[in-house]
This record gives sequence, C-alpha cells and structure tokens, in this order.
Amino acid sequence: MCGIVGYSGKADAAPVLLEGLARLEYRGYDSAGIAVLNCGAFSVVKRKGRVDALAEARSLPGHLGIGHTRWATHGAPCERNAHPHVYRNICIVHNGIVENARALRAECEVRGEAFASETDSEVIAHLVAFSYGQRGDLLAAVHAACQKLRGSWAIAVMCSDLPARIVCARMRSPLIVATGKEECLIASDVPAVAAPGRLVYVQEDGEYAQVDGGHVAFYDAALRPVSKRPVACDPHTDLPQKGGFTHFMAKEMSEVPQALLHSAIGEDDRQYLQLFKVLCQTQYIYIVACGTAYHSGLCAKLAFEEFARIPAEVCFASEFRYRTPIFPKNSLVIAVSQSGETADTLAAASLAKACGIRVLAVVNVPHASLTRLADHCVYTDAGREVAVAATKSFQAQLASLYSLAALAAKARGRQAPSLAGLPALARETLAVSQAVRAWTPYFVGARSVFFVGRGADYCAALEGSLKFKEITYLPSEGYPAGELKHGTLALVDASTPVVVVLTCRRLAEKTLNAVHEVSARGANVFLVTNFSCDTGGNVRAGVLLPRCEEAYSPALSVIPLQALAYYVALACGNDPDKPRNLAKSVTVE
Ligand code: G6P
Repeated sequence: MCGIVGYSGKADAAPVLLEGLARLEYRGYDSAGIAVLNCGAFSVVKRKGRVDALAEARSLPGHLGIGHTRWATHGAPCERNAHPHVYRNICIVHNGIVENARALRAECEVRGEAFASETDSEVIAHLVAFSYGQRGDLLAAVHAACQKLRGSWAIAVMCSDLPARIVCARMRSPLIVATGKEECLIASDVPAVAAPGRLVYVQEDGEYAQVDGGHVAFYDAALRPVSKRPVACDPHTDLPQKGGFTHFMAKEMSEVPQALLHSAIGEDDRQYLQLFKVLCQTQYIYIVACGTAYHSGLCAKLAFEEFARIPAEVCFASEFRYRTPIFPKNSLVIAVSQSGETADTLAAASLAKACGIRVLAVVNVPHASLTRLADHCVYTDAGREVAVAATKSFQAQLASLYSLAALAAKARGRQAPSLAGLPALARETLAVSQAVRAWTPYFVGARSVFFVGRGADYCAALEGSLKFKEITYLPSEGYPAGELKHGTLALVDASTPVVVVLTCRRLAEKTLNAVHEVSARGANVFLVTNFSCDTGGNVRAGVLLPRCEEAYSPALSVIPLQALAYYVALACGNDPDKPRNLAKSVTVE
C-alpha cells in the first residue's frame, strides 16, 4: 500500500528518494511521485504506474525532498491524483485515509481555494497552508491541521520557505525517521531507509517529528518535546534480489522449508517459558487476522482444539473490530499478521486491549506497529516477503501457531505431535508440486474454479483459492466439501475445474463423495492428496504429497496450490508479484 520517503541532508535528494521508493515497491501501488525543493521552488514529477517511470526526476537539483507510492483509495490512479500534492508554499505526501475529507474540502472551497486532484489527501496541503499563513510555524501548522483530521495518516510536509525542514505526523499509519551523518531520512517502512551507520526511530501515533538536515526532534500530541531511543534493526536492507528466480513469488515458495524450520518455537527460545505461562492461564482463544493470516488462524484453531482442548474462535479482524465480543475468563487474543501493519488487525488488537484482554502478536516484520501494541510477541522468521501474495509467511505462521498449540497442550499435560519433520517434507512437496504446471490449460479462462476439502483440508482449500484469485484474476471459491450440494453444485458444469484437497484419511470417503458429485456434472477434478485412494477414475490429474501429521497437513498441501496459482497467473500473462489492485501491507481500513 502507499509508501513514503523523505530526505533532508547534504546529498542530492532525488536519487535517495527514488532508491527509497524502489525499496517500497513490494508494498503494491499504482502511481508514484517525488518533489524536490530547490531555491525556494518545488519541482514535482509524478507518474501513473511504476517507480521506473520517474527516472527523469533523478537529476532534479535540491537537498530536500519527499516521495510517495500511491495505492488509490479516493480518486483514480493517475498523475493528477498521485502524490506529492502542492498547495501554495506547502507540499505533502500522505498515507492513510482522511475520512472527513469531503467536509474539510468544502470548508476550504468556501475560502475560495481550488483543488487540483480528487484525493482526500490534498485537503491536508490546504489545511497546513492555511494554518502556516496564520502562524508562520510549520510544526504548529501541521499540528493544527491534524486536529481537524479524522481517519488515519502518516504525513510528511515541506514548506518552500524552509530549505532543510520536513515535518511528519502519524496516526494509525507507520512512520519512521532514520538519522545519518548530517542527514535525516523519513519513511513509512524501515527497509526504505535503513543502512549501516544510520539510527532508526519509530514515531508513535499522535507524535510529530521535525527534521532539519542531520537533526531530528520529536514532539508529543501537545507538541511537548519527547526523547526517543533508536531501535535495533537490520541495517542491511539492500533491494531484495530474486536470486535466480523469475519472480519473488517463486523464490519465496522455494523458501517454505526454511520458513517452517525457523518459525517453530523451541524450548531454547527466549520467550518459551513466558509463552508457556501465558498459555497455562489461557482458557479461550480469539484469533484475529486478515487474508492469508486469517487462514493460518483457521488451521491453528483446529490444532488448539485438538491438542490443547482450548476452544478457539477465528475472526476476520475487519469484523471483530466492530463487534462487542464476549471474552470468557482468561481469554487470549492472538493477532496474526505478516506485516504487523494491517489496519484492521491493529484495530482488532486495540479493541481487545481496551477490554483488558491480553494480546499475543504473531508477526514477521520486526518493529511493526502490532508488536508494540501487543503484550507478547512471536516473530515468525520467514525472512522478507516481497511478492504481494503471501506464500512462505503462511507456512511460517503455521509453524509458530502449531508450536503455540503444542505448548498449550503441554501446559495441560497433553502431547502434540512434533513439527520437526515438516521442513524436510516441505522440500519433498516442493519437488512433486512442479507437476501441477501441466494442469494449467484446464484453468486458464475458467468461468469459476472451486477448491474443496474437509477439516484442515478445507482451510488449505480456502488459502489455495485466495492465492488463485489474487494473482490469476479468475473467480474462485474455497468450499467445505460437504457443503457443495447445498448451493455451489448448481454452478458446476463441464467447464468447471475443481481442486479437491484430501489428506484427512478419516474423512476420505466423505470427501470422495464430493469428487463423485462434481465429476457426475462433468467437472474436471484435480486431486491433492497424500495417500492413494480409489477415485473411481473420476480424477483428471493428481499430485501425491508425502504423508504428515493430519493436523499439520495444510503446511504441505498449500504448496501445490500456491504453485498452481503461480503457473496459471503466468499462463494468463499476469505479473504474479504485483497483482492488480492489491497491496502487500494494507494500512487503511
Ligand atoms: C493483504 C495482502 C495479503 C495478506 C493480507 C494480510 O491483503 O495482499 O497477502 O494476507 O493483507 O496481511 P498481514 O500483513 O496482516 O498478514
């Protein structure tokens, strides 16, 4: 989703901004722009499409600038709506949504101010310009403007009167400041600016930052100075490389075995004892998450119930945040998020905290907002995930969540099966999953595709379907195999590919009923299984995975489904790394 970069220092700002924006590209965006201040005038270059299209801006002179990648919310993705927005002597970039933009815009129009874009963000430039005209102080003007905003924002503001200054404000959208030798950088995300020798400070909600060359000062919501400590972070955030793969998605799928290995929680882990204590006390679990993380939550629920006998409920964070949930005694909320910045997941976790409930975050990105909000944090160790569609982070979340379920079981004197063999099995699964490439012709151009299964296989089917629709743009649905006949079967005909996930032996006969039901309607059935079963010749093609513990099977069975989505996306001519309309980190509601 939208990304922000800013620079104030001795170097030319434009190349630094372009490099920072390139590092943020993975978040997903549809237009980009930079503005550089030189001799009291802003030079602005904005383009629809990729950051590459800004190449001509590289030679803009000036040592102060801000840049942005925009993911359209208000107004179409086009040059006019791209950031930065300039109004009079003020230039801004904004991440988030100004919910009361229409009313604020009307106020500005009453003053005779004209707008150049359809965005909600432009109103911020107008408000700051108005206040700056009254107060003559940029920090005070940004503060005054923020008092009028509703919604979420990370803002960076320049004024053409101030050759080295950027003022930043943050509310529910991430922002960081990095200081180096006689220079300061700001960004929405650590990888955009972290480098050896730079110190990174995380701005909190309601705080303001004022940057001037190598100096930064932070202020609280009442503009009182606050002192901050830099956070420890990996300074080696070079542009991610594809390492010989054609796409990041292919590379990241190949990293599933390591993700499983590194994300399992072992007895020698620092937080092992603390988590054990938390889980000893836990009697009810809510898992809140979005997208792929929601699906890993569904898989984990089954493990918590089966191994630890703890009741667990999985909620879309976007729904949970507006519920009035009943928290039984000793409830624990587990918030799962690859980025740790998903606005809905943060809001769901905040709701739990406000109700006095403990929150445990399962997050892949260090220093993410969710980690600071949560009482306890488990870092999945999948490594950086660049492709918008999550792959290895799904299995990493499973490894962490299954470990927590095993720990909860232990806390109750029960035993869960070991996860130790999963990485090696994942390697085998990756090898056999290449076979699904041959299935591609049956899927390209399909009117609808179904992914079905029961129990843990249903969870895998949901994730397989999500991956498929995200990057192929073909309609697909994940469905419980037993529910087909209650509606979905009406949609099945000879043109419908149906992927059946069957690793749950106990329910094999039941799931095979679904195979018969759909093949009787002429559907092409594709089977993902880990045992040989009699399908009565009703299956067009299948892939045989290595056997594993039934409850853990989604960690493997999703692999061929990820591969299927990838190959079909390629056959459709899509870029699997950057699917249209989607963003890696969804920082708005
Ligand atoms: C977006 C991404 C998905 C991801 C979801 C949740 O929709 O495109 O891949 O699963 O957000 O993201 P999170 O960072 O909270 O796991």
